[in-house]
Amino acid sequence: MSDFLLPRLRTLDPYVPGEQPQDRRYVKLNTNESPFPPSPRVLDTLTREAVSRLNLYPDPLARALREAIAAEYGLEPDNVFVGNGSDEVLGFAFMAYADETRGVTLPDVSYGFYRVYAQLYRVHPVIVPLNEDFTLPAENFVGRRGMVALANPNAPTSLAMPLGEIERIIAGNPQNIVLIDEAYVDFGGETCLPLLSRYPNLLIVRTYSKSRSLAGGRLGYALASPAIIDDLNRVKNSFHPYSINNLTMLAGIEAMRDRDYFRSCVEAICAQRDASARELAAMGFSVLPSATNFLFASPPGMDGLTYYRKLKERGVLVRYLSQPMLARHVRITVGSADQMRALMDATRDILKEGTA
Ligand SMILES: Cc1ncc(COP(=O)(O)O)c(C=O)c1O
Repeated sequence: MSDFLLPRLRTLDPYVPGEQPQDRRYVKLNTNESPFPPSPRVLDTLTREAVSRLNLYPDPLARALREAIAAEYGLEPDNVFVGNGSDEVLGFAFMAYADETRGVTLPDVSYGFYRVYAQLYRVHPVIVPLNEDFTLPAENFVGRRGMVALANPNAPTSLAMPLGEIERIIAGNPQNIVLIDEAYVDFGGETCLPLLSRYPNLLIVRTYSKSRSLAGGRLGYALASPAIIDDLNRVKNSFHPYSINNLTMLAGIEAMRDRDYFRSCVEAICAQRDASARELAAMGFSVLPSATNFLFASPPGMDGLTYYRKLKERGVLVRYLSQPMLARHVRITVGSADQMRALMDATRDILKEGTA
C-alpha cells in the first residue's frame, strides 16, 4: 500500500477469489465454474473476422445482446441491463441504491462480495443471521430500510428459498430495491422472474459464468423494470460505458440462443451433483440439499479446514470459508465425472487414513 491511498480505502478487506495455485495441477472444484466448454455456437461466432473488428468500440447499449436475453425470458430489451460479470452488475446496483444514509440488509452467510461493496461504498450493512439449518428467515428481511440483497439459491449453502418467501420479502419492502441474485437458479431454484411485472422494486441479477459456461468471458445481466434499468445505465455511463467487449457480446448472444446445449449442460451437472451427494452421504458426510452447481458438505470426524487441507495435499481444490458458522463444511463445485471421481478417491483415502 502506498502513502497516497485515501485513508478510507486503507481499511478495505477486498474480495478474495477462489485460489488459483500454480505449484502443481489441481482438480479444481473451488470456484463454481462449469466443467463444460462454451456452446459450439460460441466457438463458431468468434471468427478471425470478429477478432479483426476489435479496432472498433463495442456498442455501448449492447442492443443485440440485450435483445437476445430479452427474447429468452419473454421480456423487452429495456428490461435488460448487461455488465462485465454479475460482479459488475452488483457493483452498479450498490452504487445506485445503497449509501451511508440508507444502508443495506444482507444475510450473514451469502456471497462475500456484497459486504465488500458495502465497505467500498461506505454503506452500513444490517446483517441478518441465518437459521441453524442454514435457511434464511424471510420475516427478518421484511420492512427494512434501504436495499435488501440476497442470493437465491444461496451461496455457499446451496439452499433455495421458496418463491413464496421471496415474494414476501419483495412485497414487504415496497420502498426499497430488493436485489435477488439468481447466479445459480438454473440448477434447481425457483426464479422470481414471474414477479417482475408486479413488483417495481424487484431487481434480478444473473450470470453467464455458471450454467452458460462463460466465466472467462465475464458477462452478467440484470432483469428489472425499465426505470431500474435506466438507473443502472446512468451509473454505468458515468463509470465505464464500454464495459463489455465485442467478443464477449457475440459469445453472450450465441450462448443465450443455444437452448439445447444449455439444457444438456445443466441436466448433466444436476445428475452429477445428485450422484456425488449420494456418494458423499454414503461415506458419512452431511450434505445440504443443493439447488446449485455445488455441494455444501461436512465431512465425518473432522472439520472443514482439515478436510480442505487433506484434499489439497492430494491435488483436489475445494473452497473452505472461514466464517464460524461454516467451519464444519466445505463448498465443492460439481465438476466432470472424472473430476468427481478424483474427489471421491481422495476422500476415501483421507477417511481411511483417519481410521488407520
Ligand atoms: C451468488 C453469486 N453471485 C455472483 C457471482 C459473480 O459471478 P460473475 O461475476 O462471474 O458473474 C458469484 C460467483 O461465484 C456468486 O456465487
